[in-house]
Amino acid sequence: MRVWSIANQKGGVGKTTSVVTLGGLLGAEGHRVLLVDLDPHGSLTSYFKLDPDSLEHSMYQLFFNNQCKNREYIGQVIRPTTMPNVDLLPAATSLATLERQVSGQEGMGLVLSRALAQVWEEYDYALLDTPPILGVLMVNALAACQRLVIPTQTEHLAMKGLERMVHTLKMVMQSQKRQLPYTIVPTLFDRRTSASVSTLKEMRRIYRDSLAEEPIPVDTRLRDASQQGVFPHQLEEESRGVRVYKHLLTALNTDLEKVS
Ligand SMILES: Nc1ncnc2c1ncn2[C@@H]1O[C@H](COP(=O)(O)OP(=O)(O)OP(=O)(O)O)[C@@H](O)[C@H]1O
Ligand SMILES: [Mg+2]
Repeated sequence: MRVWSIANQKGGVGKTTSVVTLGGLLGAEGHRVLLVDLDPHGSLTSYFKLDPDSLEHSMYQLFFNNQCKNREYIGQVIRPTTMPNVDLLPAATSLATLERQVSGQEGMGLVLSRALAQVWEEYDYALLDTPPILGVLMVNALAACQRLVIPTQTEHLAMKGLERMVHTLKMVMQSQKRQLPYTIVPTLFDRRTSASVSTLKEMRRIYRDSLAEEPIPVDTRLRDASQQGVFPHQLEEESRGVRVYKHLLTALNTDLEKVS
């Protein structure tokens, strides 16, 4: 299984949209995909019309009730999506209390890794949607993944957040004693605005080697898809956004073959 984290400490930059769009495209290629919601806000969970406030089984139980090695229980947590070969491990809003309850407890950084090990042969990809804070959930995601995708909005303020994110990433990698390849993906790009254009230029200058080639454009079809709870390619296979996400997917997979 290939495990990718989609992360940025800044909110509203297209993390959940990237997880859903990339996951849907991988599913359309015939891969077995597991989407994992690690964000207590549960946007990915809500995307598929589940209520993160009232789920009986969720990521929360895997952490808090120490069920991460219980394959049978994980099976109860996993939910279907609108594609037969794409599944979801949903979040619960109660995940927000996790930090207080379990931080400092031995082994808490490896809960997700252990849970994914239980289904390792059952999926080709796991895509992790992460919360915008560096806490126990983010640490779990970084420990479990082999690659990091960092969506970053093409606007000036986002550059500061990106700098922080890359710094955090390097610190966590150091403490976990591992290297993690990462790709920065410029998002919500509007070529008619000078802010978008100049920020992209700046990103290319600073992060040349780690930057995706093409920015994800603003595409209202992505928003429409989220309202309808379907994968963007199911709504419109060739929308501008979906097209660029397809190129990104090819690049991510090719790059992975190079580094591994
Ligand atoms: N390329 C795009 N074009 C148009 N709208 C987009 C695009 N990407 C994301 N959006 C919209 O922007 C909003 C924020 O995106 P999203 O929820 O994916 O961000 P996020 O980083 O996961 O946010 P949060 O930190 O709150 O979880 C959503 O309404 C989404 O539909
Ligand atoms: Mg999100």
